[in-house]
Amino acid sequence: MDSSPTVLVTGGAGYVGSHTVVELLKNSCTVVVIDNLVNSCKGSGTLPVCLQRVQDITGKPVIFYNVDLLDSKALGSVFEKHKIDLVLHFAALKAVGESCQIPLSYYRNNVVGSIVLLETMKQYNVYKLVYSSSATVYGTPQYLPFTEAHPTGQGCTNPYGKTKYFVEEIIQDLVASDKKWSAVALRYFNPVGAHESGRIGEAPQGVPNNLMPYIAQVAVGERKDLKVYGSDYDTPDGTGVRDYIHITDLAEGHVKAIWRLMKQSEPRWQAYNLGTGQGHSVLEVIHAFEEVCGRKIPYEICPRRPGDIASSYADPSLAKKELNWEAKKSLSDMCRDMWRWQSQNPHGFEEEKQ
Ligand code: NAD
Ligand code: WQD
Repeated sequence: MDSSPTVLVTGGAGYVGSHTVVELLKNSCTVVVIDNLVNSCKGSGTLPVCLQRVQDITGKPVIFYNVDLLDSKALGSVFEKHKIDLVLHFAALKAVGESCQIPLSYYRNNVVGSIVLLETMKQYNVYKLVYSSSATVYGTPQYLPFTEAHPTGQGCTNPYGKTKYFVEEIIQDLVASDKKWSAVALRYFNPVGAHESGRIGEAPQGVPNNLMPYIAQVAVGERKDLKVYGSDYDTPDGTGVRDYIHITDLAEGHVKAIWRLMKQSEPRWQAYNLGTGQGHSVLEVIHAFEEVCGRKIPYEICPRRPGDIASSYADPSLAKKELNWEAKKSLSDMCRDMWRWQSQNPHGFEEEKQ
């Protein structure tokens, strides 16, 4: 990195945020995290457990504030205390099923929260933003692999996905309104795995919604068997195909995006796919996980999960061309690191909870 910016990371105590903080610290950034810990583990010290472990991994300090994005006064006081160069915005609620039950909470937290953040940034003259978006904004594929030019918003079937799409639109309008702004939306495909140290990883509360954490909990004996949602899709083995990406590769994509924003002279908006470009079926993931953990993953074939699509995978060439980023790790690496994290921390960060 040319210079070493001070980066405000919203939601930095979460899964993607904590892994990204490791990469930021490795690249000599000063990191200020705000998180209200709604989906993270508090711990007994001044830092949430995962950020304490980030400090252990990197040997560098993290500045942390327990602040809710919706609290504009508390957020403003963080901007008062630190000269922020750029914001990475991860904070959001992300459970698809829950978003259908409590949509207003999702719209308030993810959309209103983002507006409060953007207003506060403007108030403190901070105009550079990296936004955590999702391949979910593409909805049902009109073609594959998804390029950034694929239509967005049309097939978002749940409130969570709509919040990701709406906030992208809000940011684009803002960038168009004032040349001081520049923003990058990173559209993640399916982030999985954990830091190779085994010290930080994804710690879902309750029953995991996503495939890889569920498999890992079956492997460690926390759950009996996996339900495979559908075997009659138009895919090579009939099960759903996704573009799984190692969390560390994903985290590195954020550093590259920052680099680009710091250098960029023209104000602009750009979305980038962060994926490997390769799809894997549910059965392939099960078998890859069995290989690394040396155990059988019992599963049963069940009906399709409502709202699921058959296949989703990225064309990641724009990120390679413009960010000089590409994913390096294989499905086997993802499973190996996921298994290390899960087997060393069978209850996530719970052991160190207050
Ligand atoms: P996560 O739940 O692990 O992390 C989000 C963090 O934000 C949590 O620590 C939570 O406590 C915090 N947070 C939520 N609302 C807040 C608020 N109002 N104020 C302050 N903090 C708040 O989720 P994640 O998997 O790390 O996802 C991070 C971002 O990436 C989200 O925006 C999500 O939509 C996006 N994303 C995630 C995935 C995925 O599969 N994990 C895929 C695509 C996009
Ligand atoms: C992957 C495949 C399932 C669980 C979701 C969100 C998306 C994004 C990432 C944030 C599918 C199958 C799953 C299980 C299964 N999040 N599956 N048994 O659905 O691609 O994306 O997380 O933006 O918005 O929708 O990921 O991991 O849930 O599912 O068979 O117990 O595994 O049907 O084919 P998905 P996933």
